[in-house]
Amino acid sequence: MVPPPTELYLVTGATGQIGRRVVHHLRQQGQRVRAWVRFGANYQDLAAVGAELYFGDLTQRDDIGAAISGVNHLISTHYDAKNLLNIHLKSNLYFIETASKFGVKSFTYISGLGVNQYAQNAPLFAAKLAVETELLQSDLNYIILRPCLLNHYLLPWLDQLRKTGSLILTGDGHLRHSWISLDDLAKIAIQLTQYPPLWRQILPVGEPVPRSRWDLIHLYQKLTQSQPMIIPLPLPVLDGVRWGLQWLQQTDDLGTLRTLFSQEFICSKPEIQQLQEQLSIQLESLEQFLRRYLGLADVNKP
Ligand SMILES: NC(=O)c1ccc[n+]([C@@H]2O[C@H](COP(=O)([O-])OP(=O)(O)OC[C@H]3O[C@@H](n4cnc5c(N)ncnc54)[C@H](OP(=O)(O)O)[C@@H]3O)[C@@H](O)[C@H]2O)c1
Repeated sequence: MVPPPTELYLVTGATGQIGRRVVHHLRQQGQRVRAWVRFGANYQDLAAVGAELYFGDLTQRDDIGAAISGVNHLISTHYDAKNLLNIHLKSNLYFIETASKFGVKSFTYISGLGVNQYAQNAPLFAAKLAVETELLQSDLNYIILRPCLLNHYLLPWLDQLRKTGSLILTGDGHLRHSWISLDDLAKIAIQLTQYPPLWRQILPVGEPVPRSRWDLIHLYQKLTQSQPMIIPLPLPVLDGVRWGLQWLQQTDDLGTLRTLFSQEFICSKPEIQQLQEQLSIQLESLEQFLRRYLGLADVNKP
């Protein structure tokens, strides 16, 4: 049941793939939303749907305190692969500390499948595990969602395929992952804030049937009736680039990419079925989501 629209949500990373969807779905429910954005970002649609825009510096505790003041639910989705330490890790730790002080009702964090297994040599996994650990040790009602981390690249890959007709496929494209519609991810994040029995839990989320990146490419071919050019990039080449960048002291997080491209990240069917039953939702299929994203007609609808 959706509570009366008297609660204030703070959504960080509100112009990102997940954050933007969260803000729109919350506003569709009539909830009050404070959207943390930065100057120069594309936030006009958020203001247009009635979200209050908050411009702050994620590295400043005072800005975080001001943003959290009066907030009932916090959904943290900000992320910068180039500045993991300050923008992702440290700021989330400030958010946790401040949310706890302010008595925020729930704190939602988007983590990733496998963060507890592969934290070594994969900085994003390590940062996410550290945020999860801090939440677990806090007195907050945390909601930790674990989608597969490659899902972050799903729509950018699709955009690239559409724009260039080609895609670089790094590592073994046959490894499978539990992909998820970004709209479902946003809706689940919101629903969980309104469902206390699932607070203080770590919840894997994804389609019950895992698919490889080759499966995605075949799905794209089927949907668009096109023959994209796939350029394989073996992992040793990525390793070479990685060591080269390290030597040049570049901060690109290729350790995380290597982990993502060399392992399978899958959630179990019972976990997903249980979540769907508890929230009374039915996840849309990846095909449905991609059809909508590509602006193609849904064959299941008249
Ligand atoms: N997308 C997925 O399917 C998926 C799957 C698993 C886990 N996750 C996790 O979920 C989180 C969000 O993912 P996403 O795909 O939505 O990421 P995203 O599209 O890259 O969005 C990141 C957001 O953070 C904002 N941001 C970055 N640096 C900032 C700064 N210095 N100050 C203020 N805002 C800043 C960006 O603002 P700008 O618009 O101004 O750049 C953007 O709104 C990440 O932690 C990711 O690892 C995502």
